[in-house]
Amino acid sequence: MKNGLTTEWLDGVPRLGWVDRPTRVTSLPALARRLGLSYLGVKRDDECGPLMGGSKPRKLDYLLATPPWRDAPAWVSMGAIGSGHLVALAGAAERLSRSLHAHLFWEPLSAGVLDNLAFTAAHSARLSYHRSRAWLALSAPRLLVATEWAGAAVVPPGATCAPAMAGLVRAGLELADQVRAGELPEPERVYVPLGSGGTAAGLSWGFGLGGLRTVVHAVAVVERPLSPLPWLHSLQERLARWLASRGLTDVRLYRPVPVVIDRSQVGPGYGVATRASESACALLSREGLGLEPVYTGKAFAALQADAAGRDRAERALFWLTARRGPLRRPVGWRDKLPGPLTRRLDRALRGLHVVE
Ligand SMILES: Cc1ncc(COP(=O)(O)O)c(C=O)c1O
Repeated sequence: MKNGLTTEWLDGVPRLGWVDRPTRVTSLPALARRLGLSYLGVKRDDECGPLMGGSKPRKLDYLLATPPWRDAPAWVSMGAIGSGHLVALAGAAERLSRSLHAHLFWEPLSAGVLDNLAFTAAHSARLSYHRSRAWLALSAPRLLVATEWAGAAVVPPGATCAPAMAGLVRAGLELADQVRAGELPEPERVYVPLGSGGTAAGLSWGFGLGGLRTVVHAVAVVERPLSPLPWLHSLQERLARWLASRGLTDVRLYRPVPVVIDRSQVGPGYGVATRASESACALLSREGLGLEPVYTGKAFAALQADAAGRDRAERALFWLTARRGPLRRPVGWRDKLPGPLTRRLDRALRGLHVVE
């Protein structure tokens, strides 16, 4: 590990203060031995602050303390019906007395997807339904490109934008502090899911600034055209510019650590669980850790596949980005769904009695 900065470096940047202490790192020595690794740790962002935890509160901690989101009475955003981002944002809207207009698109059902949909439906002021991701992009492009829509501040997909990524820079610096304090060995690789890219891009800067030599192993859960490498580089550059514009100009003396995009676990596509992701969820649930199969299950499946092959990292850290579960489904949540979504849900549930 090189000399680097600590989390204090970011202290001058306003945030809500919702993430008020480092999340712990749990070591899994028995599983490490089984996988043939010298070290396997889990960064417990499931225990992160408010909003049921997960890494999303880290993004919102900075984003919602920054104009225009800080001052807007209403926010509008998009996500899949089981989006963890919308759950966190709906929880934040309730906590900060804002109204949220959530634009939803379909994804395959599971118990976790229904839990998230129920929460988002119950805590959003308004819901709009689009039959697919592509349809949403065509019918509501402002959600992807604008900062304001009909009086509401637009929160980009996955909340990925420079101020939100600052929360992940802090997370990377936090890990560097923990390595320096001897809580874990410096990992060769950190495994994270790659959706909208903000988590991987933010961590890559946090590790670089903190002096870690760790590679960010970003496991794509979305299809290749939605997660190209140049996009990730542009996120890293935007983040550096934003930090410099906040007076943190010494960011230019540092570099982010490398990010490797692993596309081996996408399977049939976004939102679709694979056998490997289901089995990773089952394996870690025996260790008392709650994964879900759409993001974190795929990231851990990549770690397992690497450990079994020649391309292994001896010291691996798995970043548990998912929220704590399970959520209780609020009474009457289905009454809030738009008609077309209710009908699609009814059709899908006829084949899935187990999850309701
Ligand atoms: C559990 C979980 N992990 C990881 C991610 C991906 O993060 P990002 O969109 O910053 O790539 C998400 C995004 O919604 C998520 O819900």
